[in-house]
Amino acid sequence: MERKASELGMNKTGIATSPVGGKKTIEGAEKYSPDVPGDASGIWKERQAYARESENLGSVPPPVTMKGMAKTAVDMLKGGRSTVFIDKLGQRAGFERTGVRLYEAALSKLDVFGTWEGGPSREQLEKIRLDELSHFALVKRSIEKLGGDPTALTPAADLQANMSEGVPRMLTDPHVNLLQSLDGLLTAELVDNASWELLIELARELGHTALAEDFQRALDVEQEHLALVRSWIATGTMLEARVGEEAAGAPA
Ligand SMILES: [Fe+2]
Repeated sequence: MERKASELGMNKTGIATSPVGGKKTIEGAEKYSPDVPGDASGIWKERQAYARESENLGSVPPPVTMKGMAKTAVDMLKGGRSTVFIDKLGQRAGFERTGVRLYEAALSKLDVFGTWEGGPSREQLEKIRLDELSHFALVKRSIEKLGGDPTALTPAADLQANMSEGVPRMLTDPHVNLLQSLDGLLTAELVDNASWELLIELARELGHTALAEDFQRALDVEQEHLALVRSWIATGTMLEARVGEEAAGAPA
């Protein structure tokens, strides 16, 4: 199925499509200033007032096992705060789990639109999907090892879920083709890479060297994902930019 991302069409969102209406719009904007006096400093103050009054964005649950409680106590004696670790691990768990769904959505785009020379193959998308799933399992095991509850939504997990909700939304949008959907995977893979890097550093800081090694292996895999997604986007975009190559398997 052919559906190009950059097809010429009757897009009327810019003012240049209506010279008369566009001119009137500019005149109107110049004539009528905002009816609220003052500048943007009012909203800054208002935001600050709300930030001071509001409570924290949830909390990190205490360890659920005796072993976990003991570990937390030992960490605190050593000057470390394992709640930070649990918070960030909770964030990673949620994101990796969502990553599985993102690749499932990309696989359905592949089924509808097909791929292109240098684009993603079914095997590649399925492999990455399984990688994300095994990363989720790794994070889950790590939280359990620390005596935490992997089903708990930590503050960092809550934040990230809210922040990145647009990614699954665009990947499941029926108007979006495979090449366009890859931008969502790029966002996810960039976050994956930065987050594993931070987790490795944090694990070392808190003396969890074995976990740091596991996380390093996850990061190695995420670096491969990122390189692949970037190359798919590059080949697909260049192919679309070349006139007359549509027949030779240009991205749908
Ligand atoms: Fe990934």
